[in-house]
Amino acid sequence: MNIEYKINADLSPEQFIDLLKRSTLSERRPIDDKNCIEGMLKNSNLSVTAWNSGTLIGIARSVTDFSYACYLSDLAVSKCHQKKGIGKQLLSITQKQLGPKCKLILVAAPAANAYYEKIGFQRNERCWILERSHRIGQR
Ligand SMILES: CC(C)(COP(=O)(O)OP(=O)(O)OC[C@H]1O[C@@H](n2cnc3c(N)ncnc32)[C@H](O)[C@@H]1OP(=O)(O)O)[C@@H](O)C(=O)NCCC(=O)NCCS
Repeated sequence: MNIEYKINADLSPEQFIDLLKRSTLSERRPIDDKNCIEGMLKNSNLSVTAWNSGTLIGIARSVTDFSYACYLSDLAVSKCHQKKGIGKQLLSITQKQLGPKCKLILVAAPAANAYYEKIGFQRNERCWILERSHRIGQR
């Protein structure tokens, strides 16, 4: 299989949603909210994509300062291409774009918890999420 990897390639919301569906990550992403999907694509600043004969088959989409922290927002590989090293390659290329002190940080989907441990990530029990429905400072 001839897989091509691209950095910050143009991607339409439809291509992105289609890959989310083909990877199953659509279950945990707002695929019915076009504004949100467009914002995710427009405002992330590092995306690495994998292509097979012009078809998008994988993505690692991040928000980063390239120096200190890189927040990996989505990692997805289409079901029929999983477990062939594509996820690892997407993360390796992502990491190569970052400075020497820059860490990769993410919140794993339940089914991918073991994956990150396997490829070298360390579990951090001090990771916190503030849901948008919670407003700080209001009683
Ligand atoms: C998780 C995901 C991105 C991994 O990508 P991938 O291309 O299939 O993984 P790789 O081929 O790089 O796998 C590397 C190794 O991890 C293993 N692995 C893959 N998925 C795994 C999982 N879910 N749990 C544990 N190990 C896993 C592979 O078997 C491989 O092992 P090996 O080196 O001994 O052969 C992909 O399975 C996916 O898109 N899953 C659905 C969406 C999802 O959950 N994304 C994560 C959101 S946080």
